[in-house]
Amino acid sequence: MRGPTPSFWQQRFEQRNVPWDRGQSSPQLAAWLAAGVLRPGDSVIVPGCGSGHEVADLAGAGCRVIALDYAPAAVELTRQRLAETARSAEVICADVLQWQPAAPCDAVYEQTCLCALHPEQWFAYARQLQRWLRPGGVLCALFMQVLRDSAGQGVIEGPPYHCDINAMRSLFPASHWEWPKPPYTAVPHPRGWTELAVVLTRRDAA
Ligand SMILES: C[S@@+](CC[C@H](N)C(=O)[O-])C[C@H]1O[C@@H](n2cnc3c(N)ncnc32)[C@H](O)[C@@H]1O
Repeated sequence: MRGPTPSFWQQRFEQRNVPWDRGQSSPQLAAWLAAGVLRPGDSVIVPGCGSGHEVADLAGAGCRVIALDYAPAAVELTRQRLAETARSAEVICADVLQWQPAAPCDAVYEQTCLCALHPEQWFAYARQLQRWLRPGGVLCALFMQVLRDSAGQGVIEGPPYHCDINAMRSLFPASHWEWPKPPYTAVPHPRGWTELAVVLTRRDAA
């Protein structure tokens, strides 16, 4: 399979080489909580949870959180953060392309897991997100914008892989997902990247 492996990510955590990590939750999480997009009591899956800032804050906001990561160091960091903040969530060491929840959830918080996967895996991942959510459930997505000059020559570079909006429309088609009208909020990242914040709703007949 193309793209990064679990040991690639494990090493990044062990070497503290985690440039995507803000050291705190994305400001978009607070915005979605304040807007009632994510509510206390909601069941929320956080795929590719990394060091778990958002997991702890979602748990602190009263959500029932399941966090997934296949790098054991990420799982450990997330569990530590929960213990330090006296919050609770289920933290599972698993591949997002394989794992299934016991029951469909209300929301998925997708932050830099999609862009961590090689584009050849994107359709399999999108199918997973659709399966995990109940009809009417929401995918709170932060689509990483990291377009590189080499893309003009057809070179695929990453992670992070650029989550071009045209590709996102193809991956999450309107037949299965309700899209809000653009423009979308571009959330700045300390590394100079931006993420497009979009809430997609899973349609009934998906
Ligand atoms: C770029 S980091 C983002 C971490 C976190 N979401 C954040 O924004 O700080 C990507 C994370 O996804 C995890 N990951 C990548 N592919 C995965 C897979 N197939 N299954 C589970 N976790 C995966 C990595 O181990 C890493 O922790």
